[in-house]
Amino acid sequence: MNIQWYPGHMTKAKRAMQEDIKLIDLIIELVDARAPLSSRNPDIDVLGKGKARMILLNKADLAAEGANAAWSNFFKEKGFQVMKIDARSKATLKQINTVIQEACKEKIERDRRRGILNRPVRAMVVGIPNVGKSTFINSFAGKAAAKTGNKPGVTKGNQWIRLNKQVELLDTPGILWPKFEDQEVGLKLAFLGSINEDILNKEELAGELVTFISNLHPGLLSEHYKIQEEGKKQYEVLEAIAESRACLTKGGGFDLARASKLLLDDFRSGKLGRITLEMPPVTVTGE
Ligand code: G4P
Repeated sequence: MNIQWYPGHMTKAKRAMQEDIKLIDLIIELVDARAPLSSRNPDIDVLGKGKARMILLNKADLAAEGANAAWSNFFKEKGFQVMKIDARSKATLKQINTVIQEACKEKIERDRRRGILNRPVRAMVVGIPNVGKSTFINSFAGKAAAKTGNKPGVTKGNQWIRLNKQVELLDTPGILWPKFEDQEVGLKLAFLGSINEDILNKEELAGELVTFISNLHPGLLSEHYKIQEEGKKQYEVLEAIAESRACLTKGGGFDLARASKLLLDDFRSGKLGRITLEMPPVTVTGE
């Protein structure tokens, strides 16, 4: 399956972000916990040079627990402050303030040495589409958050949301473009629903997901859909799902389009269980 996608407006988004980054102390980067490397764009490391950094493994509720822990360690070792979150849940968001302070420790200390006390940390949320940026900003900022109004230098339309005495957040997230010269990265992002579906063949995509899940968790599809997946080709598994879930065309044939959508929706919503699509690369230490 060949996924080609590079929207022209990303160049504009990149320029806007470069401007916004000048105004902030901290980059809060959201990635999808089910595929943390595939859902991040390392260009942000260059764009955000010199800024305090934080990585939020979002949608951690949909990813495998053990994998969440492994990814947290992976990013911590790279020097990021890390937290796994469910951006829809206010409970997990409470601890974030502490992590923000930790991430900005150096800046706060620098301010203190210069006699600047209690200047709020200015932060911005970034991430590729669909990782949960808007959900996070809404939950984190809450309805009561007061917008502090446009300030000179802020990209037109952007406002600061004062979260508390210590933190101000830019109300508009920076949109990073997915990076998928690597077809497998593109495929994973498509599984997660982060790529505009109109350009994809759903049945082909669902077929690839069958292979992916069968490799990661043999027997899971059989158990969930009460089918026999072993030894079957991708489309035969989709046919079996169609049969099991009564996805039939008017003529009585298998409705593979509906079965494909069902499988993709079940995966994305977590009905198939908490599945992480990639694990951190193994690093050899001590040499
Ligand atoms: P974006 O701004 O980065 O593009 O992402 P957005 O907040 O729009 O979130 C994309 C989808 O992911 C939304 O679902 C949102 O509810 C869901 N989501 C965000 N964070 C989490 C999380 O931590 N866990 C889970 N399980 N889902 C999360 P949607 O179906 O597109 O919209 P809706 O039906 O929720 O309105």
